[in-house]
Amino acid sequence: MFVAKLRIMGGKLLEGEIEVKGSKNAALPILASSLLFKEKIQIQNLPEIEDVQRINELLDAFNLTGKIDKKIANRLRASILLAGPALARFGQVEFPHPGGCLIGTRPIDVFLEGWRAMGAEIKLLGRAPEEYIISALRGLSGSDYTFKIPSVTGTEALMMSAVLAKGTTLLKNAALEPEIKYLADFLNAGGAGISGAGTPTIKIEGRPGELLKCTAPFAVPPDRIEAGSFAILGALCGKNLRIKNFIAEELPTFLALLSNVGAEYILEGNALIFKNAYKKTLRASNVTTKEFPGFPTDLQAPFTTLLTQAEGQSLVHETIFEGRLNYIEDLNRMGAEITLCDPHRAIVRGPVKLTGRGLESPDIRAGLAFIIAGIIADGETNIGNIYQIDRGYERIDERLRVLGTDIKRV
Ligand code: UD1
Repeated sequence: MFVAKLRIMGGKLLEGEIEVKGSKNAALPILASSLLFKEKIQIQNLPEIEDVQRINELLDAFNLTGKIDKKIANRLRASILLAGPALARFGQVEFPHPGGCLIGTRPIDVFLEGWRAMGAEIKLLGRAPEEYIISALRGLSGSDYTFKIPSVTGTEALMMSAVLAKGTTLLKNAALEPEIKYLADFLNAGGAGISGAGTPTIKIEGRPGELLKCTAPFAVPPDRIEAGSFAILGALCGKNLRIKNFIAEELPTFLALLSNVGAEYILEGNALIFKNAYKKTLRASNVTTKEFPGFPTDLQAPFTTLLTQAEGQSLVHETIFEGRLNYIEDLNRMGAEITLCDPHRAIVRGPVKLTGRGLESPDIRAGLAFIIAGIIADGETNIGNIYQIDRGYERIDERLRVLGTDIKRV
């Protein structure tokens, strides 16, 4: 079988303009929400990435068979996003435990508890990987539900479920990520009754039997994780780099930390500019991942890669996921000096010279961190398992090549 790799010759500086593409994490729930609509929905600025293709395949299969395809769902954590709207519309949904990237088992207890609180019955089929049948044949009922953990897709799933429920739902300790507000705005434009999205308490006035109507095309906003990853590249090797579609308000803590390590950037409207940033000496800084507006866990691996170039000792504390520091061993093989203290904490000592190597991308975000490492390393880096990178970043090789990076898909 032909397996593509990304080959990078390191040491090049970046010049020119790169545009941030549409947000994966905003696009996926919006696509899933199409099941709540009477007719087709129109979406613009969809990123051309594997995860969007997978969710479209899931929707196509669902529209034909009324089932969530097991093979696809096994590969995609976001497959769970279809379950909420499907349950709300059809009163029953069957799906397998969602798969996804290798950052530890990702439970769905929060979703199940929420649906149960809305009156659904949950049946488990078989052993691991489990399959679930969720039913509410007489419709879901509005409920007062408090998240024990503010889950992002959990909030989105329950918000979508509540749109067609009888009565009012209150979701408390909801996640605050900007993607939740985008989804609520889209659903409201179609006739849903959601208020408070983007705050810890979301109120949904259910309208049973009233499917939504798409009145105008929705433009997917720029991907804040891609934006942050490009900013890290800018800080490390930007000669004259302009990042277009950079929404600073969606990355407040990230930008504060970028300043704290001594990176220099100019914010000009929605463009972030790095001029001769590669000449700056970076300083160590501790970083703790947190829910929005904290430092995003999805930027932890790219930022740790930056910290290998900073003077001094930095503590990286990953509080959201277990298994999200698994890539560190590979960075050490490139010459990094990182000590893993426990599954959640690592100490990075810098600056060190990285040397190119063969690597396998363990997950989508660590994959991008390896690209960054390859770009700043001496010599050649080959990255395998690039499906994980293509899941979330559109034609990343072509777009970085335009900036002067020596990167090829081989
Ligand atoms: C979303 C994002 C992902 C990001 C993550 C955290 C999408 C498609 N993906 O993932 O890029 O890394 O938010 O910002 O938007 N948890 C439970 N039980 C549950 C659900 C979650 O214990 O039922 C835990 C998770 O294991 C994790 C924490 O809650 O420790 C937060 O996860 P969650 O916000 O649900 O992440 P996702 O929505 O899957």
